[in-house]
Formats: sequence, structure tokens, C-alpha cells
Amino acid sequence: MQHRVHTPVQSQLKFMDKLVIEGRNHLKGSLPVSGSKNTALALFTAALLADGPVTIENIPNVRDVRTLAQIISYTGVSVDFDQQSGVAAIDPTTLTAPEAPYELVKKMRASFYMLGALLGKHGEARVSLPGGCAWGPRPVDLHIDGMKALGASIELDNGYVVAKTPGGRLTGGTFTLNPSSVGATINLLLAATRARGSSVIHNAAREPDVIVFGEALKSMGAKIDGLGTPTIEIEGVDYLNPVPIRNCSDRIELGTFMIAAAIAGKPGDTILLKNAQHEHLGHAFKEAFEKTGTQVVYNDNSVSVTVPESIQPADITTAIYPGFPTDLQAQWTILMSQASGKSTITDTIYLDRFKHIPELQRMGLVARVVQNAAHVEGGHPLKGAQVMSSDLRASVSLVLAALVASGETQVLRVYHLDRGYENLETKLANAGIAIRRERYDEWVTPTPPIPESE
Ligand code: EPZ
Repeated sequence: MQHRVHTPVQSQLKFMDKLVIEGRNHLKGSLPVSGSKNTALALFTAALLADGPVTIENIPNVRDVRTLAQIISYTGVSVDFDQQSGVAAIDPTTLTAPEAPYELVKKMRASFYMLGALLGKHGEARVSLPGGCAWGPRPVDLHIDGMKALGASIELDNGYVVAKTPGGRLTGGTFTLNPSSVGATINLLLAATRARGSSVIHNAAREPDVIVFGEALKSMGAKIDGLGTPTIEIEGVDYLNPVPIRNCSDRIELGTFMIAAAIAGKPGDTILLKNAQHEHLGHAFKEAFEKTGTQVVYNDNSVSVTVPESIQPADITTAIYPGFPTDLQAQWTILMSQASGKSTITDTIYLDRFKHIPELQRMGLVARVVQNAAHVEGGHPLKGAQVMSSDLRASVSLVLAALVASGETQVLRVYHLDRGYENLETKLANAGIAIRRERYDEWVTPTPPIPESE
């Protein structure tokens, strides 16, 4: 039988951005740290609990923030985010639909905070389950079981969590997180703050994101004790005063820039990282960074890094705060690639968060991943290449590698990077790096058409 094969359809053009970086230019001068992406997301949902319009300052203009603004607007709440000034104005009094749709929630896991905010304020919610992630699993069982413990009835309906509260308001209750989870802690605090009665969260997350978020709720009148400890007690309130809120600085961007300074600065130079809240780094990162032999001065609102002549290897193991942040383990790999010796990078939070390693190996990184650890051999020169981003922190580790690689590196699909780093190429270009953003066609070749028989 003669099969007639169609000529392949024209591949759909898909325009994307890439960063083109000429390696081995010295980083010099200073880098400004933006507002915390992860804390900004929590503060946006905290605003939904207030009884009037709320303004939030120091919000980074990144894709995740713009996505959450879209999701909040979908409920009828007005969100005015001034991307230049970094100020967001959110008026929760105009809410008409306590819903968060799949098309938006699938873009970003933290959208699931809408469940706690809508349930806490309005006693009902219909929120899509979040999509997958570049690594995982990243379940939300703790979020759902926690809401039930606070008095919600939950049904799963076509990929949506449909939550109701008998009597129209959560009662409050007690729940233990196992394992401890930043997102689940934030979601349960959103729900418990406006509940009828009192609640207790055991094994709560202690990350600075949670503390800044909880303190913002307390500034509005929430009754919360124990922030920063494993046990948080909440007394539900009937009213939250919409006072202005200020977001904290991004601790993960700060750690990323400290690593950039150590590997790409001129030995002996000092590089200043501005608008920094170093106390949010946690002692584990600071101790590991000190072990590399890099001199650091922690000032009130900045960090000074003196570029070392050589970098000593330092093993790290990620853990919940104040342990080494999992969001800095990919970046640490690049620091260790420049170290004079071998090191091991172990992730105990996400056992498979190593998708950046194969791309870095194409640039000459000598490393191997065994279960949840990357074994890195420093001292091998990196060479520029075309590399593909796979997730937010992996993509920034590719940029760090490009800074020290010989020749040109092109980091593709930087929409991953744009999720959490504000104006990165501008910041680096202003500090001596040869970097530019370019648009390119990402050919998406459809699967070959199935030949039709005669
Ligand atoms: C937050 O994610 C951060 N995101 C992540 O940063 C960060 O990597 C993570 O905390 C860990 O520090 C935001 O703050 C928006 P988790 P979160 O999945 O809260 C398990 C970045 O790059 N778990 O709760 O979603 C889970 O499997 C992002 O900025 C359950 O078992 O973290 C994991 O092992 C990536 N059941 C652990 O908890 C649940 O219901 C903690 O991770 C929820 C979580």
C-alpha cells in the first residue's frame, strides 16, 4: 500500500529571549539586590485578607509576581503594580469570584496560596491544583490536609480543589507539618488568621519569608505568636487594618551575587552588594562561604565581598532554614567548579534538583550526580557554549558559569530566569560584564505527521 506522506508542516516559530555573555570580563563595582520574589508572593496574598486597599513596597518586577497579580485580578480584586517604583496597590474589597484557574495556577506553584487566602477571608475557594515542576515531586497534601484540620471540607473536582466551610468560616484547629514546608506554613497562616477560633501549626517553617510575611499580618492586627520557631499559634480575628507593607530584600539573589563576586571579580578587588539583608542568608550559607576563603564584611544594608586569589572547596548539604538554602545549591556548584579541589553538594529538600549539571558538563564542568548529591571536581576551565535553562535557579547557575567561561555563552529560554531575577543583565552590564539579551526563534518542530494511507 502506497503511504502518502505530507510534507512536514511549517514549524511554528516561537520567539524567546536568550542571554549572550562574553566570559572572563571582571565583575567590578556594585550590584543592587532587589526585593524578595518569594516573600512578595506571600505578601500579595496577605493583602487579600485585609479589609481595605493595601500598598506593598519593594516588589521586584519579575514574571512570578506578574503571574500572581493576574491570578488575583481574576477574582475581581484590583491589583495595580507599578513596575518602575516596585509598589503594588491591592484592593481586596472588590472580590467577586473566589477562584484561581488552571491556566494561570499551572505557571507557578505559589499560586496555591490563593486557597488559604480565599478560604480564610471568604470561607470558600475553588483553586486549581498546581502543575508539575522541573524537579519534584512537589505535592500539596500538607496544604490540603491542613485546611481540613482548620475546618474546611475539601473535594477534588477535575483538577480543582473545591473548599467550603460549614457556617461560612473556618473554625481553626491544630496541624503538624511533616516535613516542614514554607508554602504550607504560609498557606495555613493565611487560612488561620481570619478563622473563627485559634490554631496551632507544629513543625512550621522558620524561613525569613515566613517571618516577614507573618509580621506583615501582625502589623494589620493579626494575632500570631511563635514566628521563626517550629510552633506558631494564631488567634483568628474579625478585622485586618490595611496598613502599608514593605517587602524584604531577596536572600537568594544576595547569595547568588556573593558567588558571582567571588568567581568573576578581580582578585583583591572589593565588590559591594547593595540593599542586602544578610541576616536572611542563615548561618549555614555564611559558614560555607567563609570556608572558601572569601573575605566578606556584613554591613547594615549591604555586603562587601573581597575577591579571593583562590577558592577553597567547601561541601554543603541543604536543609530548612537556617540550613543551607536549596535555592542556592545550583549556584554553589559554579563556585565549587572554580575551587582548588573536590567538593560534594547534597540536596536533602529536593532529591533530584540537578538538571543544571548536564548543561554545565557541556561547558566543561567535571561533576557526577550520585542520588541526591553532586560531586564536583574544581580547577577545570569552563568553555562557552549554547546552553538551555531548565528552571529558575538552574538558569542563573548557567549565567554564573558563563561569567568565568572562555568565549561566548548563550543561555537559552531565559523566561525561566525572568521568573525570579529582576533586570539581571542590566545589573551585570553595569558591573563590567559583557552581556546582552537577544530574541531568537525557538523552532518547535511538531511531531512528524502520521502518513495517511491511500
Ligand atoms: C518554597 O517552595 C520556595 N518557593 C522554593 O523556592 C524553595 O525551593 C522551597 O520553599 C524550599 O525552600 C516559594 O517560596 C514560592 P515545598 P515550597 O515544596 O513552599 C515537601 C525558588 O527557586 N512537601 O513545600 O513549595 C516537598 O516535597 C523556589 O524560588 C510535601 O511533602 O516548598 C519538599 O520536600 C523553588 N507536601 C518540602 O516539603 C506538601 O504539601 C519543602 O518544599 C508540601 C511540601
